[in-house]
Amino acid sequence: MARTYVVTGSASGIGRATAELLREQGHHVIGVDLHDADITVDLTAPTDRERLVAEVAERSGGAIDAIVAVAGLALPIPATVGVNYFGMVATLEGLRPLLAGSPAPRAVGVASMASLHPNDAELVDLLLAGDEPGALARAEVLAADPETTGALIYGSTKAAFARWVRRNAARPEWAGAGIPLNAVAPGVIITPMTAAMVETAEQRTALLELVPMPLNGFAEAITVARLLAWLASEENTHLCGQVVFIDGGSDVVIRGDATW
Ligand SMILES: NC(=O)c1ccc[n+]([C@@H]2O[C@H](COP(=O)([O-])OP(=O)(O)OC[C@H]3O[C@@H](n4cnc5c(N)ncnc54)[C@H](O)[C@@H]3O)[C@@H](O)[C@H]2O)c1
Repeated sequence: MARTYVVTGSASGIGRATAELLREQGHHVIGVDLHDADITVDLTAPTDRERLVAEVAERSGGAIDAIVAVAGLALPIPATVGVNYFGMVATLEGLRPLLAGSPAPRAVGVASMASLHPNDAELVDLLLAGDEPGALARAEVLAADPETTGALIYGSTKAAFARWVRRNAARPEWAGAGIPLNAVAPGVIITPMTAAMVETAEQRTALLELVPMPLNGFAEAITVARLLAWLASEENTHLCGQVVFIDGGSDVVIRGDATW
């Protein structure tokens, strides 16, 4: 049966591949992005986050079946905090009421294997406390040196988002309302976000040291799109609060037995 999906980040990479896949499957997709989308919003801006909810409500007649929150930035700048954490959480929380009438409501967001990389504990705490001005100020400090502290910003946003999913998935408003809330954690996926990091053999070797992917190496966006589509489908009735690593094995190599 055709369902209505909201996909953020739909103009590029993983979000685009997901929107295309869902449309090929016969579903109705409301694409959201900074440009080239049904709804154009800047997810770093609180007013745009509100407009997103209003415009999705208008376009969908107030009823959607799934939220697929993909939009993200991987730059060592404060805006990464705005879109990857606050934008993603606002998308999921803001659109959640529109799932209420669906026979099979679903929600999924994109974290990253970078959640396993070193992060800034102060920033992670500010994110989870919902303190956006505080988190942006901390990110500004970290961004002063892009190569060292700035590089902690991205992993911090993804670790905080993964924890947010874990903390919220079993709550009455999600599991209690019959909505599976989960995340995916991709390894290196070849998209415009990573294109400049994999141009030379030296770059690829260095990246695989940071993100070991013994199973089939770097992946294409469609690989993650298929998982997102399943997590947001009617078939997913019982995954709750999982962060599913789709990373060619980097979680296994880096954490080994640590999670068990
Ligand atoms: N590519 C990878 O290797 C990889 C790995 C792990 C996680 N991820 C995550 O996957 C998601 C998608 O990444 P991608 O590789 O497809 O990147 P991408 O750059 O191809 O696409 C990201 C999309 O998000 C949109 N976006 C960025 N800032 C926005 C904002 N302020 N408001 C609205 N939209 C905004 C961009 O316009 C773009 O269309 C991100 O959350 C990223 O962190 C990517």
